[in-house]
Amino acid sequence: MNLRQAVPEDAPVLAELGALTFTHTFGHMYTPKDLQDFLTTTYTLEQHLNPLTDSRESFWLLEDDNCQALAFGWAGACKLPVPNLESTAGEIKRLYVHPDHQGKNLGSRILKKMLAWLEDEGFGPLYIGVWSENYGAQRLYARYGFEKVCEYEFAVGNHRDREFIFKRA
Ligand SMILES: CC(C)(COP(=O)(O)OP(=O)(O)OC[C@H]1O[C@@H](n2cnc3c(N)ncnc32)[C@H](O)[C@@H]1OP(=O)(O)O)[C@@H](O)C(=O)NCCC(=O)NCCS
Repeated sequence: MNLRQAVPEDAPVLAELGALTFTHTFGHMYTPKDLQDFLTTTYTLEQHLNPLTDSRESFWLLEDDNCQALAFGWAGACKLPVPNLESTAGEIKRLYVHPDHQGKNLGSRILKKMLAWLEDEGFGPLYIGVWSENYGAQRLYARYGFEKVCEYEFAVGNHRDREFIFKRA
């Protein structure tokens, strides 16, 4: 298994694994149209290529020994709607493990790597947006010192999710 920083050539794999994991985890919450609208605007090559070429953003890709993507994370400058957001705030923007490989410590491994990268780059404090009912992910983030500070509405097509914002204490 190999954990490495992703490069622009990885954009298709990141987009595909992101769409697959999002659909598997949250797809049942939306109408087919809302889900499709979201996937075709969020999990595109362009949406990944821009941050992949930005030195203030970082994708981390975990592959098996055959170079098959198992999980990835995305970290960078915080764009969450936090009141009085600090100019140096960082964010864990995505943390997705392939549905067949969840619960095997892969997500924790990438999370640790991203937290170290954000700190090395001078980001702080750190934030994460998480669905209000994603209790497993919330438990994981709490273990790394994050706690809820506010909430907002996250749009998926015409649907609005209740989303919590966690901050590292
Ligand atoms: C959440 C997620 C990144 C955690 O990575 P992981 O490799 O599965 O988890 P690890 O083995 O490193 O750590 C285990 C912890 O992760 C969380 N977790 C594990 N499987 C999970 C799942 N299917 N959904 C949500 N959280 C999960 C739990 O807190 C678990 O601890 P617990 O056993 O005490 O309940 C991963 O399960 C995933 O991609 N889930 C679907 C997408 C998602 O919810 N991403 C987070 C969006 S904010």
